[in-house]
Amino acid sequence: MKSYYITTPIYYVNDVPHIGHAYTSLACDVLARFKRLDNFNVFFLTGTDEHGQKVETAAKAKKMMPQDFVNIVSKNFQSLSDKLNLSNDSFIRTTEKRHLSSCQKLWNKLYNSGDIYLGKYSGWYSVRDEAFFQENELIEGKAPTGAEVEWVEEPSYFFRLSKWQKKLLQLYEENESFILPVSRKNEVVSFVKGGLKDLSISRTSFNWGVPVPNDNDHIMYVWLDALTNYITAAGFSTNETEFKKLWPADIHVVGKDILRFHAVYWPAFLMASDLKLPKKIFAHGWWTNEGEKISKSLGNVIEPIELINKFGLDQIRYFLIREVPFGNDGDFSEKNLIQRINSDLSNNLGNLFQRVISFSIKNCDGKIPDSFNKFKNEDLKIINCFQDELSKIRNLIDNQKLDDVLKLLWIKISSSNKYIDEQEPWTLKNNDLNRMNVVIYCLIESLRQIGILIQPFMPDTGAKILDSLFIKNDCRKFSNLSDRISSNIVLNKPEQLFPRIND
Ligand code: MSP
Repeated sequence: MKSYYITTPIYYVNDVPHIGHAYTSLACDVLARFKRLDNFNVFFLTGTDEHGQKVETAAKAKKMMPQDFVNIVSKNFQSLSDKLNLSNDSFIRTTEKRHLSSCQKLWNKLYNSGDIYLGKYSGWYSVRDEAFFQENELIEGKAPTGAEVEWVEEPSYFFRLSKWQKKLLQLYEENESFILPVSRKNEVVSFVKGGLKDLSISRTSFNWGVPVPNDNDHIMYVWLDALTNYITAAGFSTNETEFKKLWPADIHVVGKDILRFHAVYWPAFLMASDLKLPKKIFAHGWWTNEGEKISKSLGNVIEPIELINKFGLDQIRYFLIREVPFGNDGDFSEKNLIQRINSDLSNNLGNLFQRVISFSIKNCDGKIPDSFNKFKNEDLKIINCFQDELSKIRNLIDNQKLDDVLKLLWIKISSSNKYIDEQEPWTLKNNDLNRMNVVIYCLIESLRQIGILIQPFMPDTGAKILDSLFIKNDCRKFSNLSDRISSNIVLNKPEQLFPRIND
């Protein structure tokens, strides 16, 4: 079995989870589930980023000790993972012991290779971004992200980032898909071409972080600590055999705002410590809310849990993935959400399921009818279409074109609806029962295949469809697409998959 290691960013625990967190995690969940169904040995990691000044400040504001504070907020993120039905195999917290030892092991490697030296940092720091900025990077006295900056002057260890400029450019050039989408890759390349300065990687003015080995005055810069999570979870400091098996990651999925950390700093740290590089960094875009930037001060933060309670989990999973090409920015609008639920889900897939199962219950003795393999060309098109498309779908998934997979599946769902209208089983009922049975058999077979293929995107809906057809749990993989559903199974009255929403 081939392995597939996929990660989400680890989320800062300074605040409650919002739609941005849910989005990254959902996209990774779709990829992880897809690969599992395609017979890969998947390791899907998510977690929380619990150190740094931002988290320490948030804890202080609540008059709590940082450790007590992060214990509570990290739980909120774990509950969100459950609520989103994420299939993650591990949840890492950067305050865990295994992570501390992993960070220190990486630090020692960097130190021993001569890539770390002691100096003094003086410059700007944005706590919200947890990032250092040069004077010439500021825009009207603020970070390029609009965040406030403060002047910092303190002793600091530096990582010789400048030394890795050429190697990084070579990496981007030789590895076309190391950074995707291409537009984002170009931004990174021009940033690196512009020249890299050595990076401050320790802080002394507060102490909520991983201690620097052999120097108790310093804690590690939170991004060095955070990025290391990806190797910690793979067993870097705890299980060498496991680490050899799992690392490197196949893909780190991140938002566009944190691409630089993943595509510049992270590979440089890894090269300097002689570790393998992740195979791909994919940066997705940002959501706005009804055209406006999402921010706490504007009071327009979208709470994923509220949204799921109101519209249903699979509805939200479908909408977020279908609405915006993965990699682009997108706008959240309730009107568009309702429109997609009513047309794509309720009218199209929901209706297909409802009409086919109800028709067989009423007209085929309540059972899946027998086709006696008397298929015409138009029938074969319906029952073979998904098998034929699988390699195309795999290719889309490997290029993270998640919305395109849904578009393709929905074209097929529409063709099944069109097939019913053209074949008119209600007319065949009166003049050709055998033909009616073939048509209904094909439609049920197509529902089985749809059920299998939508599992990564809408796991509950996939399960409902497959349960209703009594498909065994171990027959729900992509390799089962070429099976054929057995006849004579007694069907139950179908439940409504997607109730219509009145807007
Ligand atoms: N802790 C760091 C990541 C460390 S990874 C080694 C961090 N955390 S975060 O909680 O601030 O952000 C996590 C993710 O949420 C990022 O990928 C970010 O792009 C994403 N989003 C935050 N707001 C978003 C939107 N409005 N829309 C889409 N995603 C957004 O950064």
